[in-house]
Amino acid sequence: MVQYTIHGGVPLSGEVNISGAKNAAVAIIPAVILADGPCRIENVPQIRDVTLQLEILRDMGARVSLVGENTVEIDCRNLRCTRASYDLSRKIRASYYLIGTLLGRYHTAEVPLPGGCDFGVRPIDQHIKGFEALGATVELQGGYVLTRASNGLVGTGVYLDMVSVGATINIMLAAVLAEGQTVIENAAKEPHIVDLANFLNSMGAQIKGAGTDVIKVRGVPRLTGGTYSIIPDQIEAGTYMAAAAAAGGEVLIKNVIPKHLECITAKLTEMGVEVVEFDDAVLVRRHGPLSRTNVKTMPYPGFPTDMQPQLTAALCLARGASMVTEGVWENRFRYVDELKRMGAHITVDGRVAIVDGNGKLTGAPVKACDLRAGAAMVIAGLAAEGTTVVEDVSHIERGYEQLVGKLQAIGADITREEEWDETAFPVGRSV
Ligand code: EPU
Repeated sequence: MVQYTIHGGVPLSGEVNISGAKNAAVAIIPAVILADGPCRIENVPQIRDVTLQLEILRDMGARVSLVGENTVEIDCRNLRCTRASYDLSRKIRASYYLIGTLLGRYHTAEVPLPGGCDFGVRPIDQHIKGFEALGATVELQGGYVLTRASNGLVGTGVYLDMVSVGATINIMLAAVLAEGQTVIENAAKEPHIVDLANFLNSMGAQIKGAGTDVIKVRGVPRLTGGTYSIIPDQIEAGTYMAAAAAAGGEVLIKNVIPKHLECITAKLTEMGVEVVEFDDAVLVRRHGPLSRTNVKTMPYPGFPTDMQPQLTAALCLARGASMVTEGVWENRFRYVDELKRMGAHITVDGRVAIVDGNGKLTGAPVKACDLRAGAAMVIAGLAAEGTTVVEDVSHIERGYEQLVGKLQAIGADITREEEWDETAFPVGRSV
């Protein structure tokens, strides 16, 4: 059991460097399957979801070498099989991108239903609809999604019934080597979708419109290998912005694309936080009290659902009632009970939470229920009076590179410890 201990109430001060985007990396890594040559990917975050994604490829016969702290070379030309490991794949959400890439390249894929954070039902019907429209058959068997396109894939129009990041990416991946043109309408516009399209285009794909709600993919016969550097992580940057807002102080957040942060900057500004934009950095400064605000999460360029728990934690420190509406996931307020242990006054009704801020939180032992919920607990702990212990931080380490080290560098009193779980069955220990 790994846990973080935080002595809160210390304002943050200094500089923090943002890593490569998790949700871009976990799409770009399996996309290498489409390439006819080795790929060198730079600015890859060292996080568990990336390690797992690389492990899945390696298990299928890909050659994967870490050639620097954040650079990886992948060669998928000699894959042994088109069946992904069950145990590895179900540990992450993004393993489902192997369906699009394997189907696109080999016209057959056997990939387990994915895992990922628990926000209620997470269907993949829109992915399946896209694969079927391109000419594949899809069946579920023994926990696997089996997809096959015996006559190859043929480009077509696909209208997504809801804006889905995963379905947009998976259909793009399947369409890159298909015959003819695929048009994805009502596509997601997140920065990592543009990043994936840029990566694929740099290897010879013909994708237009990524970043708008209509993406056109003209199929090409082959992709080459190449070198590509992943964009900075919007959500990691937003998390440090929210931390500076909650704990107070002044933090320069470097290696970011300020445009991607505008939705977060807008909300923090409403809360009385000063945010100054530079070319590739933002300075976040908060010395006075925080103001209440309302927020609704939406697909990009709306306020990101992946920042909802972190902003809610900061809103507990504001005075007055804020309304937080979750517009993407059916159940993303499970962490609220943990914030209540720290003295937060929050009532949840369906997809709406009313945060009755009273200007303070107090330290307590809490759990990270999922990745961003865990980040919210850390933020709450940094701002709280007294000591907070965050348990189950393996969720956090799926998606944040060096969270503890980066926070220590900006003055936070946080440490990481490995604890025995006294209730666990004592395998190999004398009792
Ligand atoms: N949806 C469907 N059918 C589908 C696909 C999605 O009904 O076939 C619904 C979902 O249930 C949800 C909405 O559409 O209500 C949006 O889901 P989306 O497909 O966009 O989410 P995702 O691709 O599974 C990615 C990120 C999530 C992030 C969401 C929304 C990755 C690996 N995951 O998930 O990131 O919350 O987009 O922006 O890219 C995180 O990083 O902490 C994280 C959870």
